[in-house]
Order: sequence, then C-alpha cells, then structure tokens
Amino acid sequence: MRTRLTDLLGVEHPVMLAGMGGVSYHALVAAVSEAGGFGCLGASTMSSPQMVDEIRAVRDRTTRPFGVDLLTAMPDRLLDDVAALVREGASVFVAGLGIPCDAIEHCHAHGVLVASMCGKVRHAVAAVEAGCDLVIAQGTEAGGHTGLVATLPLVPQVVDAVAGRVPVVAAGGIVDGRGLAAARVLGADGVWVGTRFIATPEARSAPGYKDALLRATDDATVISRAYSGKPMRVLRNRWTEHHEQHPDEVARFPAQLGASIGAGAFHLGADETATGVDPEREGYPAGQGVGALHDLVPAGELVARFVAEADAALAALRD
Ligand SMILES: Cc1cc2nc3c(=O)[nH]c(=O)nc-3n(C[C@H](O)[C@H](O)[C@H](O)COP(=O)(O)O)c2cc1C
Repeated sequence: MRTRLTDLLGVEHPVMLAGMGGVSYHALVAAVSEAGGFGCLGASTMSSPQMVDEIRAVRDRTTRPFGVDLLTAMPDRLLDDVAALVREGASVFVAGLGIPCDAIEHCHAHGVLVASMCGKVRHAVAAVEAGCDLVIAQGTEAGGHTGLVATLPLVPQVVDAVAGRVPVVAAGGIVDGRGLAAARVLGADGVWVGTRFIATPEARSAPGYKDALLRATDDATVISRAYSGKPMRVLRNRWTEHHEQHPDEVARFPAQLGASIGAGAFHLGADETATGVDPEREGYPAGQGVGALHDLVPAGELVARFVAEADAALAALRD
C-alpha cells in the first residue's frame, strides 16, 4: 500500500507505531520498522541518556527508518534532546503536545522530518505553517493525552485544511486493517497506532497493563486529569472515579503527574519487574478500540495484518 506517507518516510507500509511514553521502547520500535512499518520511540518517559541508549538499541536491531516522540510540553530539555535524536540517526522527530518551532530548523538542516500531533484543525494549520512535514490527526478515541474531536470528523477536516501541502496521518481508535482502510477513504495517507501495539510481546509495560487491556470492553475507558493534570484517556478504575468526584484534589500539569507518581498510582516507564502496582489505582492509558484486543500478537505480524486486512476491506468495497 504505497502512499505519500510511505514515500516521505521511506517505508513499505503506511502503518506508524505511536511514540507511546512507557511502551514504545527499542524492542517494539525495531519490530515495527523491520516489518516495513514505521517505529517511533516514546521518549517522554526516558531520561536524555536513556533516550540515546534506546536509539542505539533500535539501530543495533534494524537499519530501517524510525522516529522519536518527545513532549514539547517539557521545554527545558527539548532542544538538547532534539539535537541528540538528530545526531543518533532518527529520521523523524514527532512533537507531542505542541508545535516545536525552535527545533524545526535544526531538524531540517540535518534532513530530519518533523511531525506534529494535532487534535484540532487549527493545530494542524499552525503546524504546517511553522514548517512541519506531516501532521498526525489524533481523535478523542485515542489512548493517552487526548482532545475532544473524534477521529471520524477530525481526519477529513484536517485533510481538507492541510493535505494539499503535507501528508495527514489518522490516529485514535484504529486497531486493525478496517481502520487503516477507513483512514485511507477519509483522505489520510496512513495510520498512527497506539493501544493495539501495547498488546504485543515486544511492548514495554508495567505489571498488569497488558492483562487489563485484554480484559477491557469498548466502554472501559474514561478521559481523566487524575494522572497528569491534562485530559488523558485511561482505563477507568477507583482512582479515576475518586478524582471525578473530587476534582479539587487534581493539580495542574505537571504537578499532578508528580502527585500520582508519588502516590504510587502511575508507573508509566516501568517494566514488568515493578512492584506495588494496583490496577484499581494505576494509570493504564488506552484508547476506545481496547475492546477489540483479545490476544497478544507479535508487532511485525500486526503490521502485516493491518495491510492485508485493509487491502481486503478496500477490495470488498469495489466488488
Ligand atoms: C500508553 C500511551 C502513552 C502515550 N504517550 C504518548 C506520548 O508520550 N507522546 C505522544 O505524542 N502521544 C502519546 N500517546 C498517544 C499516542 O501517540 C497515539 O496518538 C494514540 O495512542 C492513538 O490512539 P490509539 O491508542 O487509540 O491507537 C500515548 C498513548 C498511550 C496509549
């Protein structure tokens, strides 16, 4: 399935692994890139030296292109981290939560593309005007920090606004090839997938996370400020319900992040060896597609399935 996105990224398939903090570490990123998709490290939960180690670990496992996602909402170390990812050989810098105006020139001077996560049309327009090379239109269905506009209405509106200038990638609630086919029909050039890739053997995860995803139903998520202070879609539990009833106990971003980590309720970035994780308190980010996850599937196989299923779905429409 060749698109403007595959041409721009230099990959075979228009399937991008979301740069999920705490989840998208080297094993998962390399598996997706090796399978012909585009792997993206989620560096928001990494220290700067750890990010460099993770980039090197990806490069040890694959010669194919990959990216790094950083939270622009953490400006103190952004420029240094961008310089490091450029130096270490990533081919795309993905900016989560904000437009990285200061970093774009440096990336372009070194042949690195810049992508921007967008939850509204005006974010996408501003990103393209600032010089971003592609935009990821993320609907409210998405796991993690998220906005209010749903993927189905957001993607075509972003396409109408900016697809004449840059490729548009659809995100939020996409868990299989039917979602990829739908994204293509809406005018997107590919998909950016998070939650589905957590349920893989290669994903890093805190204890109980993958099991909780496999048990969850379509209505198991809620948008809550209880973990970071910003709206984040997570699995509903006692911690989210408590903070829904006591909004006065929720601090602003990033103070609430410190509060939930300090209270032992958020272990994003930890691995299976972490202790003291209680699923009724723990922040498990997940999108609304979570009800469709029934088993762990190797990431490379998922990439192949996405493309085969999308081809079949699009062919069926023509019959
Ligand atoms: C565990 C988790 C962590 C995430 N961390 C980040 C992040 O650090 N930066 C970012 O831009 N997006 C982050 N996201 C959002 C994803 O990039 C992506 O847009 C989202 O997962 C897509 O929706 P889906 O989960 O329904 O596939 C995260 C999502 C999840 C589930």
